[in-house]
Order: sequence, then structure tokens, then C-alpha cells
Amino acid sequence: MEFIDLKEQYRRYKTDIDRRMTAVLAHGHFIMGPEIAELESELAHYVGVAHCISVASGTASLEIALRALGIGPGDEVITVPFTWISSAEVIGLVGAKPVFVDIDPQTYNLDPDLLDRAITPRTKAIMPVSLFGQMPDYERINQIAAQKGICVIEDGAQSFGATQKGKRSCGVTAIASTSFFPAKPLGCYGDGGALFTSDAVLAEKMRAIRTHGGLKRHHHPFLGTNGRFDTLQAAVLLAKLPKFEWEVGERGRLGQRYSERLRSHCVVPEVAPGNTHVYAQYTIRVPNRDAVAAKLKEKGIPTAVYYPKCLHEQPVFAGCGYCWGDFPHSEKASREVLSLPMHPFLSDSDQNRVVEALQQALDS
Ligand SMILES: Cc1ncc(COP(=O)(O)O)c(C=O)c1O
Repeated sequence: MEFIDLKEQYRRYKTDIDRRMTAVLAHGHFIMGPEIAELESELAHYVGVAHCISVASGTASLEIALRALGIGPGDEVITVPFTWISSAEVIGLVGAKPVFVDIDPQTYNLDPDLLDRAITPRTKAIMPVSLFGQMPDYERINQIAAQKGICVIEDGAQSFGATQKGKRSCGVTAIASTSFFPAKPLGCYGDGGALFTSDAVLAEKMRAIRTHGGLKRHHHPFLGTNGRFDTLQAAVLLAKLPKFEWEVGERGRLGQRYSERLRSHCVVPEVAPGNTHVYAQYTIRVPNRDAVAAKLKEKGIPTAVYYPKCLHEQPVFAGCGYCWGDFPHSEKASREVLSLPMHPFLSDSDQNRVVEALQQALDS
């Protein structure tokens, strides 16, 4: 059994993916070929914003967003300590200070009740993560940020396809970012990511930063980078897009099916009211995680831990001045979470195998 079955994905979509990739090989516009604009237009429409800017990775997109806002040394950016390293790494990369705010233990997402205490005159942005595939309470986060004149950037690397009160992830904040890493809900076959905004000025600046800081050849008004998305990867996503809503539906169905069967055995993911969940990861909590994972492994069932350490425990952020005990919900989650196989092609019978093996492991 695969944790995420990318081989099965390719097997099912092979005809369309091959056709789209072959078209790129034939026209030869490998950098910023016509597939890039086509994909950006489709994704902006899907999310419900005016602009999509495809980029080289989810990490690159977050960094470009911060640069476009002019964030740098002396500034603070708020995020959570229970997330992938990129969320805070990019804050450090632009020279700003990551300020961590603890999560809500039910959803694993930023707890808006804790924001007021973390905001200082130096806070320039709040970058919440839509972890595991559902969004934090953006209505409240946007409201708090607006009162203080702070920008909100959704790190939607794991939540593309999720909704909140009918609005799609990446469509509810001033800027949003996602990742097309292969294992993500909308994954390509390499690295990739995208930025979303309805602000034309920010969009233009982010487009420029993505391409060495300028939109006209040999004219560079901003300090930029080579952050372009690959045309061949855009072709992969264009081939996959028509199936994406079906995949999102299957993810939701399988997530619910897991929860119905596991609820009485362990802590299952809570979907907050008004949210839909895309289960980029289907993550349970068990106190004896390592023993449970070992028993599942014996039966050929792969699991993964996202994330075994919080970011304030990472040596790279030691200088931020945090210590163990500062973020109790994140710390507890990092010691208890366990993610189970989850992808749209997981058969009901394979899922039953996971459930039975887990029930045995938990009850023994
Ligand atoms: C929450 C989060 N943010 C950012 C990223 C960075 O995305 P990428 O791997 O495309 O750089 C990831 C990817 O793992 C992620 O999970």
C-alpha cells in the first residue's frame, strides 16, 4: 500500500498528461511557454481571484509575497510553530523575525484568540497555515489584521481545493500561496507553487520579482529572483485540472469514512463549522504513536509524522528566544500526530485494512 499513490495517479491520467507534455516538447517554449498563462488563468478563475502567478515552489511563492510587501530587517511576521519549515524559513530569508502563535488543538490551525498578544508595532504580516487541508478562521484573522493595518498571507500549500463558507482556499486573504509539490492536493511532477491576489499592484510586483525583478527584458526595477514555474509542469497540472474536483470529492469522502470508523478509537480530525477539508494529510492523534506506527508497518501500512518537532525547537530558530512550554498545543500535537495513507485512489478495501490494523494496534 502506498501512503500517496502517485504511480496510480499517472496510470489513470497518462493519456492526457502525455498529450500535454508532448505538446510542450514539440513547441519548445520551455520557459514561460503558453501553458503558463493558460494555467494561471484557469487557477485564478477556480480560486475566484483576479490574479494567479505561478512560481518555482511553494517556498518561493511565500518568499516572493513577503518581498512584494517590502518586509525585511526589523519587521515581524506571525505564523504558527506547528507547520513545515518553509512557513517560517521564508520570514528569516527576507531578514524579518518569525513570531509564533500557538494552534487551536482541534484544527491544528492558528488560534485567532492569541493574535492580539503577538501583534507589535513591528508586525507587518500574519501568515497562517491552512494545515492538513482545512483553513483557519480567516474571517476573524482578516478582521484583526484589518484593525491593525497588517496584511494576511494564507499559506495554502496543503489546502488547495478546500473551502470556508463557500469561498475557496487561496481566495480569502490579501495574498495567498500554494504548493504543487507532487504529494499536495494539486501536485505536479516536480516542484512548483502559485500566488493568488486580487490586488493588481501586488500582482504586478510579484510577477516582476518572480522574473528577476522586471517585466521588460533588461529592465529590473526590483530585486528579484529566478522563481518561474516550469512549462512542462504547467502542462501536467493542465492535464490534471479537469479531474481535480473529483479528487477533492474523493478526499472528503475518504476522510469522513476514516473518521466514522476511527472516532471511537482515537482522536480524529475535526472539521470546523463552515469548512470543507481536503485531507492533504489524514492525521489522527495517539499517545503511543511510535508503537502504533511500528505495528502498522509490520502489516505493510505506511504512516508519516507531520511534524515531529515544532519550529521553535529547530536550531535555526534558536535565536528567536522561545523555549519548550511556550506553545503547549503545538508541542503536544507534535508528539502525538500520526498521518494515515490518504489519496483519491485509496480503495475502500485498502482503507478498511488500515482501519482494522489501527484498531488492533490501539486496542492491544
Ligand atoms: C505548510 C507548507 N508551507 C509551505 C510549503 C512549501 O512548499 P514547497 O515544498 O512547494 O516549497 C509546504 C510544502 O511542503 C507546506 O506544507
